[in-house]
Amino acid sequence: TTAQLLLGKKVLVTAGPTREQVDPVRFFTNHSTGKMGYAVAKQAAKLGAEVTLISGPTNLSTPKGVHRINVQSAQEMYEQVMRHFEQQDIIIKSAAVADYRPKQTYDNKMKKTGGPLVMEMERTPDILKTIGEQKTSQYVVGFAAESTDVLHYGEQKLKKKNLDAIVINNIQEQGAGFGGETNKVIYLTAVGERIDFPLQSKEDVALHILQRIALQLKDDRR
Ligand code: PMT
Repeated sequence: TTAQLLLGKKVLVTAGPTREQVDPVRFFTNHSTGKMGYAVAKQAAKLGAEVTLISGPTNLSTPKGVHRINVQSAQEMYEQVMRHFEQQDIIIKSAAVADYRPKQTYDNKMKKTGGPLVMEMERTPDILKTIGEQKTSQYVVGFAAESTDVLHYGEQKLKKKNLDAIVINNIQEQGAGFGGETNKVIYLTAVGERIDFPLQSKEDVALHILQRIALQLKDDRR
């Protein structure tokens, strides 16, 4: 059935990688394609939510009924998320945001020299942590892409960033993480739930996570 579980809810989703510019020709990025986040946006819209998708650069088309805002850098994503977050009921952060960016960016193409290049990097703003600190009634869900001690690091992020839930994927596992049409995740909540979902399509992962969130909101009478 297509029960409108999220009818009347405002959902903000972030998706894709960020690009951290070095000069007009070069940037730092990661392997995120946006598929996981776009699946969340698509399913949330199908469940009746009013969906805003803040997306890094991807090749994907905007899911039906979703309001999409394009960004490039972690800083731009931060600004757009902060602009929209207050009026949301649910925030789901599936984007793979760069943790570091070049401390200096150049207006002109950098010239090579004979020797090696040393580039200083600085931290980007932690969007999720900021939301965790500022949230009032919003239900905030993070993702964690881990390759070792996945449960341990996932739990740590859930607590440290003051999230309501976290979706942990082990990027070393077959069929999970970046790219591809499938994912295999563990869902942890601040109230101590743990669900180990089987390997399934990103669309099904998205649907099952959204169903859990809808149930929790109903329990909380939010
Ligand atoms: O896009 P796909 O190819 O489909 O791949 C999906 C995915 C692997 C990118 C996705 O499932 C996923 O795991 N996304 C989160 C990736 C990530 O950056 O994880 P992290 O453990 O580094 O960050 C933890 C959380 O903090 C994430 O919700 C991230 O959005 C957020 N974060 C991180 C850094 C930062 N500066 N600001 C943030 O908000």
